[in-house]
Amino acid sequence: MSQIIISPSVLSMDYSKMKEQVDALNASKAEWMHFDVMDGHFVPNITFGPDILKGFRKMTDMVLDVHLMVSDPEKYAPIFVDAGADMVTFHVEALDNDLNRISNLLKVLHEKGVKAGVVIKPKTDVAFIEPILDQVDMVLVMTVEPGFGGQSFMKDMMSKVTWLKNKRDEKGYSYRIEVDGGINGSTYHTAIEAGSDTLVAGSYVFKGDIVEQVASLLR
Ligand code: DX5
Ligand code: ZN
Repeated sequence: MSQIIISPSVLSMDYSKMKEQVDALNASKAEWMHFDVMDGHFVPNITFGPDILKGFRKMTDMVLDVHLMVSDPEKYAPIFVDAGADMVTFHVEALDNDLNRISNLLKVLHEKGVKAGVVIKPKTDVAFIEPILDQVDMVLVMTVEPGFGGQSFMKDMMSKVTWLKNKRDEKGYSYRIEVDGGINGSTYHTAIEAGSDTLVAGSYVFKGDIVEQVASLLR
């Protein structure tokens, strides 16, 4: 099994203490930092633009894991690469589940020299992405409806995680399987047992001592 990576979501950060909290993340065992980009259109919430990502880039060497919840990822994904993203994932639903457009955007991102992957919402079937699995560095399975932190983990999404894991074994692929939404000190077991290796955690990490909260997800 791949080593577990924790990707704390800065969506749940206290923005009056940004520097202090980034320092705590830098000191923690988290290797990635998850950056939720929301455009107020694909999801009913608005978060960060590329200039904010540039600011985080200056404060950390962690892998910047950028989750685009925007209606026009073909336009914005390259902009976030230029702002410092290391891994960019975009929603297949934003491209009308069109495999040609999905494949093309993955190529664009790879040509720009970053890792790239796709995200599926809870109601989206996983099997239809099979033809592009040879192109992805990661698949992100949403375990809440995208838009807000602090929602409850949808355990029934674990069948998608296990399907992805079995497909990876069968085909010899090496993509990571990330889960996002409702990960806490108990649900992380379920996610790992199902086959995920990359865990986004927002409210759980920032509700207490950041270093300790991250460590608890690796035990
Ligand atoms: C939701 C975001 C998540 C969110 C997770 O749309 O994609 O990354 O920050 O927050 P928690 O861990 O609180 O569910
Ligand atoms: Zn996210």
